[in-house]
Amino acid sequence: MCGIIGYIGKRNAIPVLINGLKRLEYRGYDSAGIAFFSGNKISVRRCAGKIKDLESAIKGEKLRSVAGLGHTRWATHGRPSEDNAHPHRAGGTVLVHNGIIENYFELKEDLRKKGHVFKSETDTEVISHLIHSFLQKGLSFEDAMREALKLLEGSYAIGVINEKEPGRMLAVKKDSPLVLGLGDGEFFIASDIPAFLKYTRDVIILENNELVSITNKGVSISALNTGKPVRREATRITWSPTMAEKGGYRHFMLKEIYEQPRAVADTIRGRVFPERGEVNLEEFSLRESDLRKIGKVFLIACGTSWHAALVGKYMIEDMARVPCEVDIASEFRYRKPIVPKDSFVIVITQSGETADTIAAQREARKLGARVLTICNVVGSTSSREADSVFYTHSGPEIGVASTKAFTTQLIGLYLFSIALAKAKGGIASGQIKELFSELLQLPEKIKKALQINDQVLKIAKKFCYTRDFLYLGRGINYPIALEGALKLKEISYIHAEGYPAGEMKHGPIALIDNSMPVLALAPDDQVLEKILSNMEEVNSRGGKVIAVTTEGVKKVFAHASDILFMPKTNSYLTPVIFAIPMHLLAYHMAVLKKCNVDQPRNLAKSVTVE
Ligand code: G6P
Repeated sequence: MCGIIGYIGKRNAIPVLINGLKRLEYRGYDSAGIAFFSGNKISVRRCAGKIKDLESAIKGEKLRSVAGLGHTRWATHGRPSEDNAHPHRAGGTVLVHNGIIENYFELKEDLRKKGHVFKSETDTEVISHLIHSFLQKGLSFEDAMREALKLLEGSYAIGVINEKEPGRMLAVKKDSPLVLGLGDGEFFIASDIPAFLKYTRDVIILENNELVSITNKGVSISALNTGKPVRREATRITWSPTMAEKGGYRHFMLKEIYEQPRAVADTIRGRVFPERGEVNLEEFSLRESDLRKIGKVFLIACGTSWHAALVGKYMIEDMARVPCEVDIASEFRYRKPIVPKDSFVIVITQSGETADTIAAQREARKLGARVLTICNVVGSTSSREADSVFYTHSGPEIGVASTKAFTTQLIGLYLFSIALAKAKGGIASGQIKELFSELLQLPEKIKKALQINDQVLKIAKKFCYTRDFLYLGRGINYPIALEGALKLKEISYIHAEGYPAGEMKHGPIALIDNSMPVLALAPDDQVLEKILSNMEEVNSRGGKVIAVTTEGVKKVFAHASDILFMPKTNSYLTPVIFAIPMHLLAYHMAVLKKCNVDQPRNLAKSVTVE
């Protein structure tokens, strides 16, 4: 995810910016850049690659500046390249941005008609052109910024400098993080505190729609729309720099679990037209006519992404009534699959680099299928080689165990299923609106779901020294049982199996005794009664049942010793909500067992070998 650093003060800004960018490296990035003053002019240096490449590029130049901006880019619009790297310039206005401008395409078209020339493929560049256009109309720097921001839809944290007022930096945020560092005669803006922790521990965490104006004399904050001054108290940070990188969380995995409301909101942003009841097919690089031709869908992936594929099958078949096959990539590539002419292949991969997945993707294309990849990394091999790409906007995942990348993959599959169902004429527009309405409420529901953390910790304390665990689910939540078991294995090294609940009697039931906890996923759906019976089968053999159910389902009390109540949503989105306790339980068990949560033994984040 992009990282921003900005500085005004008594030191030479260049090393402060470079050092700040290094402290933001953990966020993941593919290119970097800085902007600084040379007299009253702003110079920009950028490069694709790492910060050390940027350092090499400026090595030997005796650069000095009292102010500047720095940026690490994690591509969302446009490939990783020098031209797409920030800072972006229009006239004398130079800025850095983190977030997504949803309406950038319309804004760009409009500006183009007015003679603006764009040099990058990014959504960001429109912001610098908008500010520049208002400055050309004679507005002050601050007013130009306010007017430009009125036109933006989406999320942003922005830092801007301008040649007209070299002593001032403006910054603003909406739904993307931005913090302010208050030093002695020096001031900082950054995406995260570690960027300036070396220089000051006094911090203001900015709120949405607050405009900050910084000079070397001080900082003033005002409401973006009204211009009214806002008083905000600074907080003194006591965390260590490493803790600060994790935003105060003990592990990246926990941070990433808690980032899900934002990750899901970003993945939905700009992808639906709720009033029209339509999915934005451009975001899938697909046309409705392509969808109409699809006779069969193959879903191919590895690991956690394969669990997303299994959920996808339920969504697609149920909503669009198009048959689906799900394959583990390493199986697909060698099993001589029969791929009819009207097949459509969906590859799911957070990294876009998994060797087996790439090989299966190539095989599918060789067999004549059109391939869509649902991927989290712009410019990755899978996204470059696919016919169509849907980027999940979860931001980089650092913990090896995938969490937010998984739930955002489910959002991609949900949207694809709706689009396919609509193209096939199998869904009424009223139904689509209901599906959208539930989707738009999801980030808030995830926030609510995360409130069960303390209860999950209690359950983890009870069961962390157990040797085996069984996870049961049915229907669309059977893959979530698999996911719960996989996570537990991966990070706590406890043997766990996921099973379709109805299949328990054909084998795993032989294992059940009083030392065998069984976690049952029991949402309030058409198979609730069935899974309650499966829980009873466990109880009557002395097993211990942990139930995860929907709030308000009282029947569960008679069948489980531990119960977690989750917010209600439609059946297609229950896997997103029910994945949260799965990830939290595995996390707490691993911490209690003192395992290396973020880097479990023998596992890799991106498996680039067969
Ligand atoms: C590794 C990771 C898993 C991931 C799997 C597939 O095993 O540890 O978290 O689910 O690879 O990765 P992909 O990037 O293709 O989704």
